[in-house]
Order: sequence, then structure tokens, then C-alpha cells
Amino acid sequence: MTDASPPARTAVVIPAAGRGVRLGPGAPKALRALNGTPILIHAVRAMAASRAVSLVVVVAPPDGAGEVKHLLDAHALPERTDYLVVPGGETRQESVRLGLQALPENITAVLVHDAARPLVPVDTVDAVVEAVRDGAVAVVPAVPLADTVKQVAPRAHGEPEPVLATPDRAALRAVQTPQGFARATLARAHAEITANVTDDASMVEQLGEPVVVVPGHEEAFKVTRPLDLVLAEAVLARRRANDGF
Ligand code: CTP
Ligand code: MG
Repeated sequence: MTDASPPARTAVVIPAAGRGVRLGPGAPKALRALNGTPILIHAVRAMAASRAVSLVVVVAPPDGAGEVKHLLDAHALPERTDYLVVPGGETRQESVRLGLQALPENITAVLVHDAARPLVPVDTVDAVVEAVRDGAVAVVPAVPLADTVKQVAPRAHGEPEPVLATPDRAALRAVQTPQGFARATLARAHAEITANVTDDASMVEQLGEPVVVVPGHEEAFKVTRPLDLVLAEAVLARRRANDGF
């Protein structure tokens, strides 16, 4: 590093404003408990565990910013990290954009991490940060697929769906978060791309900028359906048992 280059300051935006419809009725997904602690708090701790992260911006359910602030105050979190809460929007994309708007000027690298991935290991977070610091403008952690994937012509109501193709599984990856970005690139993507997307890296792809994949982790899975809560509690139980030895 030369004297002229300022130190990278890395923030993470955690979109947590979704309802969690697929999880079934109840509180917003990020506020539901895993072993007695809200999913969001697990996710914040997982990200703040990285020494590279100096600021965590939580994007709260639109009517839940006060409750989220209270939760952050009520749980022990690393003191070297700053925390901010902003209300979210109608879509994940809008929630991330609102989080980005809250970043102070001196932030040069941004991670975007789903609150719904509460158990991502710190090594995965650090690997993404490192790839951004090494010069990648967009970095995505991902894992190989277990299932073969078919492209179909979608039909409603459980009708049989014609298969159109079977992509080569060896060349497919299931993508996770945190996704890491040069701040300027992600800000430009959110300013210019209006098409509906399900992750941030695809917006950068649409800008024509390069996106790279680094190894993700099986414990970075997204809590989406009720069975995922069972799996998440099993992972926490295994960690506790391992810590005891
Ligand atoms: N998210 C958000 N704002 C929205 C929608 C989603 O911040 N308007 C966040 C969720 O809180 C979650 C992440 O984006 O942490 C990934 O989305 P997903 O897993 O789809 O969560 P939900 O949208 O809450 O779940 P569902 O789609 O089942 O309703
Ligand atoms: Mg959703």
C-alpha cells in the first residue's frame, strides 16, 4: 500500500425488512428467535465478528426501526463496531438502497448480508472482504449444487411443467451472502439498474462489471422455510457441543 491510498473502511448493510412469508405466520422473519435470540442478532454478531467490519447498518421492517434499535442495545455486540438502523422498503432491492444511502462518506467497501443468513462463519466473511481489498469490484460467496437443476416452462397449480433444458451442474453455483463490493460500483448499480433482481451482484453484472465467486459455506444457508429453523438450531447445538470440548 502506498502512502497515498486511504485505508479501506468496510461497512455491512443487513437487509432485515422482509416479512418472511415462506416461513409462515408470525413476527417478521429477522425478529424471530433461534435458540432464544433473534435471527437478526445472530446475523449482526456473525458480521461484526470480522475485524474488517467497522460499521453495521441494519435495514429494519418499515414499522420496526425502534424495536430493532432496542434489540441492538439489549444484546452484547463488539464495541469496536458502530451500529445504525434505518427503515426498509417494499422490496429487498429498495431496502438495500436505503441502507446504502445511510453510509458515511469514508466507507470504501460494502458488504450486503441477508439477516436471514444468521450462521455465516467469520472465515467466509473475511474471504469476501479480502477479495474486495485485493481489487475485485464484486465478490459473491457460493457453493456447488447438490441437486440437478431443470429449466422448465412454469405452470401454475402443480400442473406438470415441460422441461426445456438441463444445465451442466458442474458449472452452476448457489449464491449466498455476504456479497462484497467496491462502494462506488454498488452505488452506481443501485442508481442505474431498475430491473427486479434477487441479489446485488446481478445488478453489477447488468452494469457490465466483473463479478467473481469465492467459496461459500454450508452454514451460510438462508432461513427461508420452517425446516430451515430446525437446521439452524441443530447447527447452533453442534457449535455449543464443540465449544464444550
Ligand atoms: N428483505 C428486506 N426488505 C424487503 C424484503 C426482504 O430487507 N422488502 C430482506 C429480508 O429481511 C431477508 C433478505 O432480504 O433478510 C432476503 O430475503 P428473503 O429471504 O426472501 O426474506 P423475506 O422476503 O422476508 O422472506 P419471504 O420472501 O419468504 O417473504
Ligand atoms: Mg423475499
